[in-house]
Amino acid sequence: MSKQFDVVVIGGGPGGYIAAIRAAQLGFNAACIDEWKNDKGGPAPGGTCTNVGCIPSKALLQSSEHFEHAGHGFADHGISMSDLKIDIAKMIGRKDSVVKQNNDGILYLFKKNKVTFFHGRGSFVAAKDGGYELKVAGSTEETITAKHVIVATGSNARQLPGAPFDEVNILSNDGALRIPAVPKKLGVIGSGVIGLEMGSVWRRLGADVTILEALPAFLGAADESVAKEAAKVFKKQGLNIELGVKITSVENGASGVTVKYTDAKGGEQSLAVDKLIVSIGRVANTIGLNPEAVGLKLDERGAVVVDDECKTNLPNVWAIGDVVRGPMLAHKAEEEGVAVAERIAGQHGHVNFNTIPWVIYTSPEIAWVGKTEQALKAEGVAYKAGQFPFLANGRARALGDTTGFVKFLADAKTDEILGVHIIGPMASELISEAVVAMEFKASAEDIARICHAHPSLSEATKEAALAVDKRTLNF
Ligand code: FAD
Ligand code: NAI
Repeated sequence: MSKQFDVVVIGGGPGGYIAAIRAAQLGFNAACIDEWKNDKGGPAPGGTCTNVGCIPSKALLQSSEHFEHAGHGFADHGISMSDLKIDIAKMIGRKDSVVKQNNDGILYLFKKNKVTFFHGRGSFVAAKDGGYELKVAGSTEETITAKHVIVATGSNARQLPGAPFDEVNILSNDGALRIPAVPKKLGVIGSGVIGLEMGSVWRRLGADVTILEALPAFLGAADESVAKEAAKVFKKQGLNIELGVKITSVENGASGVTVKYTDAKGGEQSLAVDKLIVSIGRVANTIGLNPEAVGLKLDERGAVVVDDECKTNLPNVWAIGDVVRGPMLAHKAEEEGVAVAERIAGQHGHVNFNTIPWVIYTSPEIAWVGKTEQALKAEGVAYKAGQFPFLANGRARALGDTTGFVKFLADAKTDEILGVHIIGPMASELISEAVVAMEFKASAEDIARICHAHPSLSEATKEAALAVDKRTLNF
């Protein structure tokens, strides 16, 4: 007889593994199926995020930032360095070991929470007895049954037509995280989050980086003032960013890649690079899931169709994370995983899409939550804005990192915080205060009245809240 489970999660990324753990915590007999293999063919749960996404990219961002500080930043502190070198193989090896620690951590969490883990590909076989029959194809093949199925199969990098990834010259996020030597010239197509983060890594290590972006505006999702500041800083750092381009051809030759494109003025251009990263977004992944076997509905882009509660068109089949609508972020996938497990248990799991933070881990970091100023204008919302520069923050001066600012947007009448936008040091950490404030429907004055430690970067947040009422104390 096949093994029976209350909840089976297909996919062990941040959405899937968290959903399985939460389901087990709620008393369900839960399993998680994940097919990711490490270089020895063993299990590597954690999905895109752990293996070729959030975690390894942050490991390389850290290494390359240390290198840049050592080369350019330490001198100001009176620390001199000579013969500065980077051992790329060691840097990549450290990144791989960080990934492995996370893979092992998830396997440990499965054991601790009594989640049954299957290493292999999960697919639908049939609807059966009010539940679902699933096939697990790994080193062996077996059939299991589940009352509830959570699809958490994630996403894959989108290919540019005519430029298939070979992960040697034309790289997805996977290849971009394991370039064996610093390329002299690196091209990046797409100035989104991956383009900026990976472009920054290899620029800091010495590559001459050119980013080609189709849209005429830079970082359209961010607040315009942040995008403007970021464009200025990245240009000064040496990232060449060309906006409004149209790629006409990509030729992958023995000595590198040639990209032909039309620039914003309509001129024909050619860019020869050693390596090309293509980061033009991601597509939902249902490869091998066999959704047809049970009639699981996908949309025209291949994403699983879900309602606000992550319910699919099938009873007791749910879908979460990158494989469904909404931002492709690990923390959004996790929140949906928790909420779905709680809904299966009859609880009221919830995800507040208005307070999902965004972070871009460049230097300076960029982070925001809530509405941008341009969105408020477009929606005709009356608002007040307050901004405070890190230049006027004592901790930022001591750190030697005074780029950027914190900006608050609050409702003109009620003072409720509608959005917070940060570009500057540790923006990824500072944004949490704004998320908490918005979840509690705080006003800008609430933040302005809270005692913040001195000297800390968080004082810039308090000051920006004070700025909403035009009463900053240190600027
Ligand atoms: P995934 O993480 O993609 O996991 C899906 C898993 O399902 C994979 O392990 C896959 O092998 C498995 N799978 C698929 N089909 C099957 C099947 N049929 N059977 C068994 N297993 C299957 N987000 C952030 O929030 N912060 C960041 O800093 C960040 N950095 C990123 C950097 C890069 C370079 C990239 C590419 C992405 C980054 N992201 C970041 C996005 C983040 O990685 C994704 O939003 C997140 O991983 C989505 O989680 P998920 O669980 O939906 O899917
Ligand atoms: P993205 O959606 O962030 O950016 C893609 C960019 O490519 C856009 O600016 C788009 O206009 C441009 N583009 C699309 N087609 C193009 C073309 N033909 N020519 C030139 N430019 C083109 O996608 P990206 O960077 O691939 O990242 C995928 C997802 O991964 C992101 O949406 C994000 O959710 C997630 N991610 C999150 C990170 C974080 O939270 N720090 C880090 C990295 C990725």
